[in-house]
Amino acid sequence: MSKPSCSKNGWPQGLDDYSHRAEITNVYALTATEKLYQIQIIDPVARRNFLFRAGQFVMLEVPGIGEAPFSISSSPSRRGDIELCIRAVGTMTNFLGRLERGVMVGISGPFGTCFPVEDMVGEDVLLLAGGLGIVPLRAPIMTVLENRSRYGRVDIIYGARRPSELLFGYQHAMWRQFDVGLEVIVDEGEEGWQGPVGLITDILGQRLGQGERCQFVDKTNAIVCGPPVMFKYVCDMLIKAGLPMEKIFVSLERRMHCGQGKCCRCNIGSTYTCVDGPVFDYWSVLNLKEAI
Ligand SMILES: Cc1cc2nc3c(=O)[nH]c(=O)nc-3n(C[C@H](O)[C@H](O)[C@H](O)COP(=O)(O)OP(=O)(O)OC[C@H]3O[C@@H](n4cnc5c(N)ncnc54)[C@H](O)[C@@H]3O)c2cc1C
Ligand code: FES
Repeated sequence: MSKPSCSKNGWPQGLDDYSHRAEITNVYALTATEKLYQIQIIDPVARRNFLFRAGQFVMLEVPGIGEAPFSISSSPSRRGDIELCIRAVGTMTNFLGRLERGVMVGISGPFGTCFPVEDMVGEDVLLLAGGLGIVPLRAPIMTVLENRSRYGRVDIIYGARRPSELLFGYQHAMWRQFDVGLEVIVDEGEEGWQGPVGLITDILGQRLGQGERCQFVDKTNAIVCGPPVMFKYVCDMLIKAGLPMEKIFVSLERRMHCGQGKCCRCNIGSTYTCVDGPVFDYWSVLNLKEAI
């Protein structure tokens, strides 16, 4: 794809098949630093044809400001719009944080590999998220819940630094209604917090300690999203408990520029995390030097 040049009004010209004009239709503040953006592709045919799988990402372009990759956080079965949950960290994301509904943006994608949730049908699914890792995890969570009867035991373990940083709290009760074991833990409590304080690995240790799970561990799939330090400890525990590395899936985030294997910004050796990832099984991750 050649990079679209900008017109006088800042709108990109020459959008290709992957690129769509879109509108931010709703913005919800979730925490002090994260907002949920509902984004609708303008062209009805392109909107209908925009299909993605859990774990994939889009490149979001704010005309005149920049472009950056974001995981699609809504269900792949949701038609009409996509949801992105974005943390304000720098130039573009802080600019986005000041926008309101009605603003026009560009969406390219979907790009990258996905969590193979269809292959997990009939088996247990363990979803583990640390911090912003709950954002890419929300799409496979929704897919599993929409097809709940097709999966065995489903557990979500979600950790954040503080209760005020927890994302999608308004949906936690709904997730539990689908016979899902949801455990939420924070590094440090705040006034009013009655849940556990500690690390994700504390909860995971309790779960893996149950004989029932260990017995069926070869029928368990794990999806892990979070900071690299969390991957290492969580995946080590899962492997020690007997989970095959090929059934542990992680999403690796690297700095990305083009999102399409063309700019060499995201590669680890000959592997491009934008095309060959961002979702990898843990066996592949261990074979990628300095991946985590
Ligand atoms: C596949 C993928 C999916 C992503 N999904 C999400 C998502 O769903 N929600 C979300 O909020 N963010 C997500 N990110 C990160 C997001 O792309 C960056 O936060 C964004 O590019 C920052 O742009 P900026 O112009 O605001 O920051 P800049 O001004 O470019 O940088 C500000 C600061 O953020 C750091 N930074 C920028 N990009 C990254 C990155 N990729 N990883 C770690 N640090 C970074 C910089 O080092 C710098 O310290 C994702 C990244 C990738 C690669
Ligand atoms: S982001 Fe350009 S090659 Fe991956």
